[in-house]
Amino acid sequence: MRITRTWRSLTALATGLALTVSLAACAGGSGTASDDAPADTQGDSRTAGQGASDGAARSDGGTLVVYYSATGNTERVARIIADATGGDLFALEPVDPYTDDDLNWTDENSRVSVEHEDESQRDVDLVADTVDGWDQYDTVFIGYPIWWGIAAWPVDGFVEANDFTGKTVVPFCTSASSGIGGSGDQLAELAGTGDWLEGERFSSGADEADVQAWIDGLGL
Ligand SMILES: Cc1cc2nc3c(=O)[nH]c(=O)nc-3n(C[C@H](O)[C@H](O)[C@H](O)COP(=O)(O)O)c2cc1C
Repeated sequence: MRITRTWRSLTALATGLALTVSLAACAGGSGTASDDAPADTQGDSRTAGQGASDGAARSDGGTLVVYYSATGNTERVARIIADATGGDLFALEPVDPYTDDDLNWTDENSRVSVEHEDESQRDVDLVADTVDGWDQYDTVFIGYPIWWGIAAWPVDGFVEANDFTGKTVVPFCTSASSGIGGSGDQLAELAGTGDWLEGERFSSGADEADVQAWIDGLGL
């Protein structure tokens, strides 16, 4: 497992009050982001239909913004991307959502810690892993938090379940300090299809201007 040096040193300090405060700030640092499980019905962005449901109205832009967000930071960036591109949002929701206790990486017995230690435990069932009208999307952004240096594994099931042939795929992530590293490449390998761009990491509290500048630079 690849863990960035910065995160490793943060982890070493995990018992210290300073880190506790720091991570709390990261988790809630978005200002407007909720600490709860991601909702997909807020804001101006349209929401793509899930699975066999009838589906909501969609933009004509052919852009989909798929994301998993445990504490709201990635969701906030996803919403900015959807607004900037006219894309549709699709929230990945585990059937069994991660609670605050589940996410407590300082507890070696927490759900994430157990899953991190044992890769075979990382098969997270999603409420929906397919999107209505998938064929109409030429560009798919995929967002996730960094967990221990890699993409949070609830996105894996979505990536495995879909055929990205003919699509440009743009990974993005949020993290406390780690870079995007090889997380996008790992997801591309898992998918096996699609034209995957390098992707971008945003800080947990990234502001709209950062995200907009990145979108403008993509030239999509
Ligand atoms: C289980 C867990 C592991 C994490 N591992 C890392 C890490 O390796 N590097 C890092 O910079 N941040 C790490 N973080 C912090 C998150 O990546 C960061 O707070 C992110 O913005 C959370 O996004 P979300 O609010 O969309 O869930 C971790 C957080 C959790 C809960």
